Amino acid sequence: MTDEEFYGQTLYTLQNAEKYLLKLIAEYQELPEIVVSDSFVMNCQSRIKSAESMVKKLKNRGFKEDLHSALTNVYDAVGIRIICGFIDDVYKIAAWIEKREELEIILRKDYFAWPKPNGYRSYHICLRIREGSMAGTQAEIQIRTMAIDFWATLEHELKYKKKIPCEELIRKELKRCADEIAATDISMQTIRDMLENGFCENKEDTESSYF
Ligand code: GTP
Ligand code: MG
Repeated sequence: MTDEEFYGQTLYTLQNAEKYLLKLIAEYQELPEIVVSDSFVMNCQSRIKSAESMVKKLKNRGFKEDLHSALTNVYDAVGIRIICGFIDDVYKIAAWIEKREELEIILRKDYFAWPKPNGYRSYHICLRIREGSMAGTQAEIQIRTMAIDFWATLEHELKYKKKIPCEELIRKELKRCADEIAATDISMQTIRDMLENGFCENKEDTESSYF
């Protein structure tokens, strides 16, 4: 089944919601306090969930496999992934999104504060657009650091493998990497805080640019 066949006219609404949210994130990037800081978004990806993967998800969860069910029972028909440099940047943009009056926050999951047993860390916001022609459309925004995104991309492959060689070892190694990445993310944040708070003795050093 094609996306057009499954979503019908609603596909355009979902695509508009995707564009709308990407524009909102671009707006955040233009905020004067973000422009002057290094808290910008490193990368932003988006997608409309394919008909095939939507039907699979509905089936796995025991829901009816039709459009109405997809739009009410699943939050991530529209999915946005925001990749930041540092943990503070994740919370900063999350707080900004959650304050938007045009968005109704349905739920938030803070996997930084409560990591999954496999070590997954990310901040997820499920929301509903309140205004305009897209009113009622739901979307999921995932916000994470670059380092975690690198890990999550590899870990995600496990989901699609029918037979995983040395499964126990691979899962254990991935968990170890997730925990090392989390420790490194905290150290990187601490170093940035120290640099920004002027702990450098030689001021000239702080004025040099990386590029
Ligand atoms: P789905 O996982 O989408 O069925 O929904 P859920 O209710 O479990 O929500 P959750 O917020 O946990 O996950 C939503 C999305 O986050 C997933 O579709 C993935 O993109 C991502 N995600 C969640 N957990 C993991 C994980 O353990 N590893 C990786 N790589 N991605 C994850
Ligand atoms: Mg899940």
